[in-house]
Amino acid sequence: MALLAVEQLCIDYPARRVVDGLGFRLEAGRCLGLVGESGSGKSQTALALIGLLPTGARASGSVCFEGRELLALPERERARLLGARIGMVFQDPMTSLNPYLRIGAQLAEVLMHHRGLGQAAALAESQRMLEAVRIGGAARRLRQYPHELSGGMRQRVMIAMMLLLKPPLLIADEPTTALDVTVQASILHLLAELRRDFGLALLMISHDLGVIADIADELLVLYGGRMMERGPVAAVLAAPRHPYTRGLLAARPRMDDPLDQPLFAIPGTPPAGGVAPGACGFAPRCASADGRCTREQPAWRRLEPEREVACHHAA
Ligand SMILES: Nc1ncnc2c1ncn2[C@@H]1O[C@H](COP(=O)(O)OP(=O)(O)OP(=O)(O)O)[C@@H](O)[C@H]1O
Ligand SMILES: [Mg+2]
Repeated sequence: MALLAVEQLCIDYPARRVVDGLGFRLEAGRCLGLVGESGSGKSQTALALIGLLPTGARASGSVCFEGRELLALPERERARLLGARIGMVFQDPMTSLNPYLRIGAQLAEVLMHHRGLGQAAALAESQRMLEAVRIGGAARRLRQYPHELSGGMRQRVMIAMMLLLKPPLLIADEPTTALDVTVQASILHLLAELRRDFGLALLMISHDLGVIADIADELLVLYGGRMMERGPVAAVLAAPRHPYTRGLLAARPRMDDPLDQPLFAIPGTPPAGGVAPGACGFAPRCASADGRCTREQPAWRRLEPEREVACHHAA
C-alpha cells in the first residue's frame, strides 16, 4: 500500500477549477517532485493534502494517506492526524515561526502539546533535532528569537520543527526558493540526508527543475492544474515526452550558455483564468498543437511502465 495515494483530485473555487484530475502515489521513503510554472496548482494541491485550503475552495476525488481517506474525515480528526503524521515546510519560514517566541519555546511546544512531554525533556529533544538538521551551537540557538537567525537557518529550524513528531511524510513547498544558491544546496542536501536517516517520504514542490532533479526519484509536471507528464526524474529529463516539459527544460538557464544568446522562453503566459475544458490546456502555447489539441483533452496514458503523459503528439 502506498503511503499516499491521490486519485482524481479536483479543487474548485466558485468561479473556476484550479486543480483538475490529479493522481499520484508516493511510497514510504520516496521523493516525488511536483513542478510547473506559477499558478499551475502546486500549492493548492499541497494545501488540499493537509486540509488547509482557504474557505470557498472545495476538494473532491480521493486522498488516501496511510490507508485513510482524508477528504472524508471530519476536520478536527484530520487536523489531529495531520499535525503529527504530515509535516509541511513553506517557502518563507518567517511566516510559520512566531517572531515573539524563542526558537526553543516554539519547538518544545510541539512536543509538549502532541507528546505530553515536560518542558525539560521537550527542550532536550528540540536541541537534538536542531543538531540533526546541522544547526551549530544548538543549545544557544534555542534561546534566540527567529530574527537572530539567517534565512537558511530559519528554514532548518522549520524542518526540525516538522520532524519532531517523526512524521512519515514531509511536504516542502518551494522550501529553498527564498534562499541563495549555496544555502539552497545545503538545505537540499539536508533533506536528502533526512530522507535516508528518518525514512521520510518527501513531496517536493518547486518551479525549478534543477531542484527536483537534485532530490526527487520521480517527477510530475503540472500545467494549469492538470497533469502533463510523469516518470522517473532521470528518464524524463533525458527524454521529455511532453512539449511543456521540453519547454521547461529548455528555459533553464545554464552556466555554459553563451552570454550573448537570449534565454529560451515558452511563448505566452500560463492561463490566468484556468484552462479550457475539452482541450489540451497547453495548446495555446504549444508549437506542436493542431486542431485536435484545441477540440479534445488528451487522455492520461501510459507510454512505458513508469512513464505517463497527456499529449496527443507524444509517441
Ligand atoms: N483563494 C483563492 N481563490 C481563487 N483562486 C485561487 C485562490 N488561491 C489560489 N488560487 C488560484 O489557484 C491557481 C493555482 O495556485 P497555486 O498557488 O496552487 O499555484 P502554484 O503552482 O503554487 O504557483 P507558484 O509557483 O506561484 O507558487 C492559481 O491560478 C491561483 O490564482
Ligand atoms: Mg505555490
